[in-house]
Amino acid sequence: MSIRVSKSKQSELNAEQLTVFVADENTRITVQEAIQANWPAATIHDGGLPAALGMLSQEVSPPLLVIDVSGSDDPVGALRSLKTLCEPSTRIVLMGDVNDVTLYRDITQLGAVDYLVKPISADDLVSALRTQEKPKETVGPEEKKLRVIAVIGARGGAGASTVAVNTAWIMANELDRTVALIDLDLQFGTVTLSLDLEPSHGLREAFEKPDRIDGLFIASAMAHESENLFVLGSEEGLDRVVDVRPEAFDILLDALPDDFDCAVIDLPARLAVARPEWLARADMIAVVSDLSLAGMRDTMRIAHLAREIAPDTALTIIANKVAGPKSGELPKAEFQRGTELPVKHFLPSDLKLASAAANAGKPFPVVGKRTPLVKELRRAAEVLSGERPVESRSSGGFGKLFKLGK
Ligand SMILES: Nc1ncnc2c1ncn2[C@@H]1O[C@H](COP(=O)(O)OP(=O)(O)OP(=O)(O)O)[C@@H](O)[C@H]1O
Ligand SMILES: [Mg+2]
Repeated sequence: MSIRVSKSKQSELNAEQLTVFVADENTRITVQEAIQANWPAATIHDGGLPAALGMLSQEVSPPLLVIDVSGSDDPVGALRSLKTLCEPSTRIVLMGDVNDVTLYRDITQLGAVDYLVKPISADDLVSALRTQEKPKETVGPEEKKLRVIAVIGARGGAGASTVAVNTAWIMANELDRTVALIDLDLQFGTVTLSLDLEPSHGLREAFEKPDRIDGLFIASAMAHESENLFVLGSEEGLDRVVDVRPEAFDILLDALPDDFDCAVIDLPARLAVARPEWLARADMIAVVSDLSLAGMRDTMRIAHLAREIAPDTALTIIANKVAGPKSGELPKAEFQRGTELPVKHFLPSDLKLASAAANAGKPFPVVGKRTPLVKELRRAAEVLSGERPVESRSSGGFGKLFKLGK
């Protein structure tokens, strides 16, 4: 899938905000033909990539850039350099002379809006720039509703990011949902790291200046893990505090392109407490905890907060890193009594799988497809995605793997 952005989800493309760098005369003629009818005030520069890098090192980047990178030995590296010089909200379309599907994938994964293979036609360019303006044709008269799933860890390190990443991956790659996976831990988030994807600065900008968010902004800030999974995560420096505007979450979700079925949000507990109103936006809240006393206490506290702020939102408790009675963890029944909530999923501890996945930068289902942990993550993904009702549970749960205390 490429993300299409309906007209209502983007600000108008202002003709003067389009800047093109061409590398040869034929392309210049084609680009001129393409833009004169549609974006007459756009500017065209000669000199291709070197000229673009030169201008961007001096000036603030325009909202939309089309750059001919032909001749470059490393178009992906070129895009990386361009992105370091550009504002996070700048959308980049590349043109080049290498026709290679892997290159196309790498370039779009890095956040370019499109890659056009030369020789391009005027129609190719117009449609690349217009695709994002087109209203979505495949959606019926009824707007598809985005299902927002907030995953919160009751304790640091309980495995909230692991659950968010792997259930989102399963939804996208096994349940055929189009998923936006969003890591709201802007400084210490691990979502992009665990999928070996590039972090972006898009979220910081979105959080601090939500009025700048639109569908095109989000589409260019997201990394593409696969056809159905798009990831927004950051690795902001520790030298500055990110100012989180209260309205940012709603604006971000509203601006997500219509193609998305689900948004899986890795929501740090501290942020959920600071902005509890964000919980009301979720269709499903999953609280992830280990079976510790502190986890029991904080699962209960977060669940109460969720009930108070979002009484109609489905809530599910996921116990993670469950290692059985000999590990010293609380027995299942005691944990449930303490939280006053039924635990819907018990995810076994699997250190070998967790470290193999981390080292490979791959999700658990890719590294350990048939492990008990992945099987239980699949059940959790079915519930979180709405495929299976919260109440229903197959008989093959964790209770069969370990005889948990009553
Ligand atoms: N079921 C599991 N078995 C073994 N290791 C696990 C399991 N779940 C998560 N882990 C590992 O535990 C560590 C912490 O997991 P994760 O980062 O998902 O926790 P978190 O709740 O998001 O932490 P933080 O509070 O830092 O955001 C990671 O190294 C992860 O691979
Ligand atoms: Mg985390």
